[in-house]
Amino acid sequence: MSKENVSKLHTPIGFIGAGNMAEAMISGLIRTNTLSAGLIRAADPSPERRAYIADTYGIETEADNHPVVQQCPIVVLAVKPQQMASVVSDLAARNGFGEPSRRLVISVAAGLTIASFEKWIYEGLPDHQRHRIAIVRVMPNTPALVGEGISAFSANAAATPDDLSVTRRILSAMGETVHCDESRMNAVTAVSGSGPAYCFYFLEAIIDAGKKLGLTEEEAEKLALATFRGSLRLLAVQKEKPAVLRGKVTSPGGTTEAAIRVFDDAGVRRAIMEAVEAAARRASELSATN
Ligand SMILES: NC(=O)c1ccc[n+]([C@@H]2O[C@H](COP(=O)([O-])OP(=O)(O)OC[C@H]3O[C@@H](n4cnc5c(N)ncnc54)[C@H](OP(=O)(O)O)[C@@H]3O)[C@@H](O)[C@H]2O)c1
Repeated sequence: MSKENVSKLHTPIGFIGAGNMAEAMISGLIRTNTLSAGLIRAADPSPERRAYIADTYGIETEADNHPVVQQCPIVVLAVKPQQMASVVSDLAARNGFGEPSRRLVISVAAGLTIASFEKWIYEGLPDHQRHRIAIVRVMPNTPALVGEGISAFSANAAATPDDLSVTRRILSAMGETVHCDESRMNAVTAVSGSGPAYCFYFLEAIIDAGKKLGLTEEEAEKLALATFRGSLRLLAVQKEKPAVLRGKVTSPGGTTEAAIRVFDDAGVRRAIMEAVEAAARRASELSATN
């Protein structure tokens, strides 16, 4: 059996909400041959969105969430966080999470806790029914849209080792994965969830500096982007810590040292750490209100 066949899933997956994140997952699942298009379904209220998703990926779509959840033992909840309570409570009220016997429910909504999903899904179910519905909370990031994301995930006590393995295979279609305790999700949100914006912010500043020094916008962008891309590749190939590679390009009395001294004098490292800590605090506040 080929490696692809070993990792191929054969269980139908249903998406509730067919927006950007659902599309990233659907396209990744098909592109990586993790799941056939025939086993993917998606529900979305917008007729235009359904037509686009059905035409682009050859999957079945529905206006109503209920049939999708009924047909699919694995469900990905991909609506906006503020829509989630009503969407999930409505499905639970219509016995959406009834048979088949085992279910895996994966939420990609930022900030919504596993406890919230347990409340919405388990309420009204007898105790002996609850253990068959595993709930997984995922924090993806935007590079998932091009298959280069990283998704951290946490699962509740109902998740079996098989549920975790299936979750990892699904998320791998969008990039890398990290399994962590839910108590770390605010830190994850601050580092990798908001992280792409930090990278863009840093790039913006370098491009602006290049322009101030007389480069055209096109030249500055090309130089800065290729430098980021190449530096990450160098890290990956040489398997060194960032500090080691920085040391290698920082000769005493040279140009790089002059630049790093300005960073240090301006407290850039401290500001970055404080910024990431602020993002984690905000993630914690937002989770508490959901
Ligand atoms: N995009 C990212 O990079 C990213 C990163 C991390 C986490 N996430 C999470 O991913 C989730 C989806 O985000 P997104 O960016 O993909 O948002 P999005 O593009 O707005 O997708 C949400 C989709 O759900 C549809 N929808 C609205 N009400 C619905 C309902 N009652 N039943 C079924 N579908 C419904 C929306 O339709 P209408 O537009 O017609 O309302 C829209 O197509 C969010 O919870 C977000 O926190 C996204």
